[in-house]
Amino acid sequence: MSDSVEEWQVVRRGKGASRKFKSHHQIPPASACLSEQLDVQKLVRRIRDTVSELRVEDLWLQWKNQLLLATSTSLSRPSERSETDAQQDKETKGTVQQQLECVCYGLGSFSSCVSARYQLAMLLLLLDAGQIPPKNCSLYDPAFSSAERDVLRGLGLTVLTENEEGKRLATKPTLFYLMHCGKALYNNLLWKNWSPCCLSLVTIIGNCFSGIRERTIERELRRDYCYISKAVDLCEERLLPCPSRLIDVFSDTAVITFPSDRLNKLPQSTWTDSPEPQYQHCLDLEIILKQTCISTSPVKGDR
Ligand SMILES: C[S@@+](CC[C@H](N)C(=O)[O-])C[C@H]1O[C@@H](n2cnc3c(N)ncnc32)[C@H](O)[C@@H]1O
Repeated sequence: MSDSVEEWQVVRRGKGASRKFKSHHQIPPASACLSEQLDVQKLVRRIRDTVSELRVEDLWLQWKNQLLLATSTSLSRPSERSETDAQQDKETKGTVQQQLECVCYGLGSFSSCVSARYQLAMLLLLLDAGQIPPKNCSLYDPAFSSAERDVLRGLGLTVLTENEEGKRLATKPTLFYLMHCGKALYNNLLWKNWSPCCLSLVTIIGNCFSGIRERTIERELRRDYCYISKAVDLCEERLLPCPSRLIDVFSDTAVITFPSDRLNKLPQSTWTDSPEPQYQHCLDLEIILKQTCISTSPVKGDR
């Protein structure tokens, strides 16, 4: 394992950016800046300790093996690949993981929530194992504080500023890390990638879909989360182990992939009628939607 996880430093903004910031905002008192910096350092230390703790656990080894197995098989299924692809694989053997990108939604507030901190530590270990450069890992959670965003940037990760509502199109092999997220985030992600070509690029580490199906009333799952409902039968789930002391952190989690050979066997109609999810019937929607501007000026012709 490289030292990247061990050697984090919190990087500050460049001169230009901070000058621009000062011209528009009040400068906080020096004591506030100092205490914020101390918080950031303390938080980085805590995350580093958690990474070290997880790294010596059997759990970590099992997760790593499952991820590598899932990504190597889903990225190189023989039935779907030409001879040229196979030749290229031979030439780049061992480097398949380098092509992966990572997107993490719904990590939670890792400064105040222990579960989120363990999940972040696990994410850092997974990035390292999958040889995914930190900058190729984008994170978004509306719950992140500015200190938390600083910590993430300090780790070299990319903090998204826009709420994508989970609607990220996979244009290259992508690991989506969605730990204990609401069903709407998974459903939106599936909708956006609802084609054999895109789904085969998607690997999810998150709540196992068969567990979601068991816990949800079938009629409601089909009506509100139809992409999860359909995906259960076409995905491959590898349940990840979870020791009882970390049950709140890693329970009910699987590596989920979409084998091309399964996708390609389905009738074309599976993919054609795929409306964007609306959730108008959901009373307990577990997603924060993006803010839409409501115009207060009267629309022409409305009077
Ligand atoms: C049930 S919490 C899980 C938090 C943490 N992963 C854990 O296991 O404790 C769901 C998280 O999803 C986040 N969330 C809600 N809407 C989101 C969105 N549109 N994009 C990303 N994250 C979102 C919430 O802020 C919350 O932190």
